[in-house]
Amino acid sequence: MSILKYLNAKAIEACKVSGVPLEFAFFTSSDRPDLADFQCNAAFQAARILKKNPREIAAAIQAHLLTDPAFAEVNVAGPGFVNVRLTNAFISQHLQRLDFENPDLDEVAPETMIFDYGGPNIAKPLHVGHLRSAVIGEAIKRIARSLGNKVIADIHLGDWGTPMGMLIAELQERHPEWPYFSDQEAGFPEDSPISVDDLNRLYPEAAKHFKEDETFATKARKATADLQAGHPGYRALWRHFVDVSLDSVKKDFAALNVGFDLWLGESDADTVMKDMIFDLKQKGLAVESEGALVIHVAREDDEIEIPPLILEKSGGGVTYAATDLATIYQRVNMEEVIDRIVYVVDQRQSLHFKQVFRAAALAGYIEESRLEHLGFGTVNGPDGKPFKTREGGVMRLADLLQMARDEVVKKMGIDENADEAMQKMADSIAMAAVKFGDLSTQRLSDYVFDPEAFVRLEGKTGPYIQYAAVRVQSLLDKAAEKGLQPARDIIIETSEERALALLLLEFPVALQRAHERRMPSDLCEHVYHVAQAYSRFYQNCPVIAAESKEQAESRLALSELCRRDIAACLDKLGIDVPDRMITYKNEE
Ligand code: ARG
Repeated sequence: MSILKYLNAKAIEACKVSGVPLEFAFFTSSDRPDLADFQCNAAFQAARILKKNPREIAAAIQAHLLTDPAFAEVNVAGPGFVNVRLTNAFISQHLQRLDFENPDLDEVAPETMIFDYGGPNIAKPLHVGHLRSAVIGEAIKRIARSLGNKVIADIHLGDWGTPMGMLIAELQERHPEWPYFSDQEAGFPEDSPISVDDLNRLYPEAAKHFKEDETFATKARKATADLQAGHPGYRALWRHFVDVSLDSVKKDFAALNVGFDLWLGESDADTVMKDMIFDLKQKGLAVESEGALVIHVAREDDEIEIPPLILEKSGGGVTYAATDLATIYQRVNMEEVIDRIVYVVDQRQSLHFKQVFRAAALAGYIEESRLEHLGFGTVNGPDGKPFKTREGGVMRLADLLQMARDEVVKKMGIDENADEAMQKMADSIAMAAVKFGDLSTQRLSDYVFDPEAFVRLEGKTGPYIQYAAVRVQSLLDKAAEKGLQPARDIIIETSEERALALLLLEFPVALQRAHERRMPSDLCEHVYHVAQAYSRFYQNCPVIAAESKEQAESRLALSELCRRDIAACLDKLGIDVPDRMITYKNEE
């Protein structure tokens, strides 16, 4: 049983015998580790309801807890807080049962969950927003999986909207002779007439054209509708767009260590679009409005106005919302029963998801409570505004990663002539810096991308955690060379050992909290505290040079648990650990 579960069971017993409502019966880590390990505020909270003196209730709780030998001390403090300190023997006993692969958690029935994240767009390079979706989505997925849920990750490519028509119309103007624009029905060239770099160059030009030229815009909208309606030439050309983009997207995500089970896109919902629209019309949900087809999703008790969801625009062509709704329709009709769909998408799309989720519930496809939009804040530049290039364009993910890497290389004091091992080390540190910088910020908050701060070896950074992991590993290796083995029993003697042990015992709690709140930052917080506590332990408690072999092997066992804790957390966060790490030459 995890330590907090044990304590909470004790709190329940004590509250029962003291007549305190059980909703207050739980322990939390103490705010004052110098005074106590854990505290229970039940007496204080219940006093008002019970109209009793909180200190009297606290004394009753205290009396019950004192019957348990797990507690070295039980005190009543302040206006009625119950503070406890555990015996070292009890802590050691729990350390032995700590399992980082199958943590002991509150029983919750596992679910089959679809994770929709990443969401890059065809013909556009990944930008900063995609970083957050990919990194947070991947972490939340891994955390859910480690708790026994079945997870299915779907990248949901943006491949079906007006940008597709813009590209087609632009190419048609430039290359009217291409077979895709004739009324040919089949037999189109197998090789793509355009590379991904061509597409990335073409897209901004087409977008500008679309904005500035109404005739062109009309053509582009028409091309979108025709593509969706099945125009053979357009479909053949569009297929090339998707294929060449997907190749490059796959490389980008592999470099980020972000993986998907399904590489589907908005366009894949096309196969069910007609059926779904028929179904929505039959149910009386999809109705005509000003030439468009819409679903009214507003509710009487809405505090702000929720506009209708538009399925089809007046000029034809299905919308982003329609593709999301059809994707739900498809997902709930999969062979496998899907319990939950989780979308990790910019918080600025919250209205879109509200509309889609309501429509899905109205149509009876899935309950709204089983659809979650996990939003996130923006990545900002030094000016505190969403990060843009100097010219005001979108900041590319590749440039962001490069900025972090440049900073690492500068601090390491290496250049392009350094050997491969050094280059790899720089890659790994830069990636950890960017990911941890992102994940450690509360999901919904914006943050400033500060490469210099993110790559530091000190403070709450990815490289700091990596450094701790490397240091533990090298200690374990050295000890093994000396023939020392981690002991089975850990003897806690010093305050540093004790503090570290208590933090390690929090692993299952932190993991579960991160999952329930869908907040990878909870796990970042935990692993950071462990790394800090390890560092204090390492400085104050000699391991190999301990006073006795027994003490050395006990400390070794504690180090080994630390190694596993950090490895388990970094694995969930999608951060790897280099084999070796050097301290920076040029850290200011
Ligand atoms: N492609 C979209 C964008 O870049 C994100 C897709 C989010 N996922 C979804 N199911 N709508 O904004």
